[in-house]
Amino acid sequence: YDIEFDDATSHITIKRKSTGTVLWDASLNDLIFSNQYLQITTTVPSTSVYGFGEHEHPSFKHSMNFATYGMFSRDQSPTTFANLYGVHPFYMCVETDSNAHGVLLLNSNAQDVSLSPNPSLTFRTIGGILDFYMFLGPTPENVIQQYTEAIGRPHMPAYWSLGFQLSRWGYGSIDVLKETVDRMHYYDIPYDVQHSDIDYMERRLDFTYDKENYAGLPEYIKHLKKEGMHYVLILDPFISKDEEPGTYRPYDLGEEMGVWVNNSDGVTPAVGKAWPDGHSVFPDYTNPRTVEWWTQMCLELKDVLDYDGIWIDMNEPSNFDRGQYPGCAVNEINNPPYIPSISDRALAQKTLCPDSKTYLGDHYNTHSLFGWSQTAPTFHAAQKATGKRAFVLSRSTFVGSGKHGGHWLGDNFSQWKDMHQSIIGILEFNLFGIPYVGADICGFNSDTTYELCLRWMQLGSFYPFSRNHNAEGNSAQDPAVFGAEFAKISRDTLRIRYSLLPYLYTLFYESHVHGNTVARSLMHE
Ligand code: GLC
Repeated sequence: YDIEFDDATSHITIKRKSTGTVLWDASLNDLIFSNQYLQITTTVPSTSVYGFGEHEHPSFKHSMNFATYGMFSRDQSPTTFANLYGVHPFYMCVETDSNAHGVLLLNSNAQDVSLSPNPSLTFRTIGGILDFYMFLGPTPENVIQQYTEAIGRPHMPAYWSLGFQLSRWGYGSIDVLKETVDRMHYYDIPYDVQHSDIDYMERRLDFTYDKENYAGLPEYIKHLKKEGMHYVLILDPFISKDEEPGTYRPYDLGEEMGVWVNNSDGVTPAVGKAWPDGHSVFPDYTNPRTVEWWTQMCLELKDVLDYDGIWIDMNEPSNFDRGQYPGCAVNEINNPPYIPSISDRALAQKTLCPDSKTYLGDHYNTHSLFGWSQTAPTFHAAQKATGKRAFVLSRSTFVGSGKHGGHWLGDNFSQWKDMHQSIIGILEFNLFGIPYVGADICGFNSDTTYELCLRWMQLGSFYPFSRNHNAEGNSAQDPAVFGAEFAKISRDTLRIRYSLLPYLYTLFYESHVHGNTVARSLMHE
């Protein structure tokens, strides 16, 4: 490409050399570059714009009709147009002659982008610099290959992790878990991975298991593994500080090693509200000491529960209050002059105060990197613990997360709309270099129905990451619970998936080595 700067008009233009197409035309008269507010507007060569995450929206191709997307990681069930768990300031634009290019704004601050029919894009971020990268394709696949070359190629998933997976928050006991596994086997439904959500823990305390309701879990995991299955355990990032000193090693060791996110004083740990009820501290994964502590804890857990993979949740990071105890101070960092178009227009809502301190810098700058910073250490810990290729599933993601983890689209609803939009989300995460992605099959929030769940099993059988997962308190929705006919249809559709596994595995190989997408829209072909 060529870059030109016109002194008379103060325009920067970027042109594709081979066609002369203007990919970017930004007037520096409109540029704002101040400490807490940076803004730039550029035209784009067509209205075919894809990407920007993480959001739920009604069509893969974005509406350019003055849509604005906020980007700031947030624990929030998929809500159309709202900022969700991850942050990906990346878009792909398909030019009118079908050439495609991609653009990344590498910036972790709270930000938003407005798409307007001109067609143009306006980027606004409240910190950092305007660090743009351009990928010239010219095919959509080339764009993603080049993008992942820059940010890190997707990891190579283990073959077993392409099998069907089952999960549920709130089996409540090992007996219910066993009944579920047994009926899956009774109906001979292809099924390779079982997950345990937070109810396996003692009072939702990380690195423990409930010795009453889940008595015998270690032996049961070993038994399933002997039968050829694999096991994934959830871990939340926050650690309770309310246990008796000397009784809860994850906290005691972390405290001794000084691994927590601190308050604005940089010394006292930030204390928020999470699981279990009470007071929790937040590991700062940008700190090498925290990585050491986390690795140690994951290794010790493996001695008790023989897991094959780790599911890291709530890492936006989620906190159930607005900021930590006792609330956020009134200052410029916590109350910037502009708050991007994010839910509640509040940076501290459901997370920590922006002036909290992490090893890498103020939480104001590093907030959306929390999940990303936890993913690589968890990948390496899982690799060390299992001696095998690692499995890490992360709720919060950032640019480059795909190198060490996969993603599910979060706490969706048991609704037809959510089933539809899962396709868009999955295609989009393939643009973000996170091809190991799926949505909770049959829906997470609220009770599913026979028909919706059946259709979702049929669709989800072709998700790159295929898992049925459900929220606490809802009726069971595993494919064996609805009787023989439902089970047969699920078995048939999953068998088609399994017949295609060598092909799917090869797509992941292509993705790992050359950066291709795994699930892609026809446009890429
Ligand atoms: C979060 C996760 C969900 C999980 C629940 C309990 O809402 O997104 O998947 O089941 O926490 O751990």
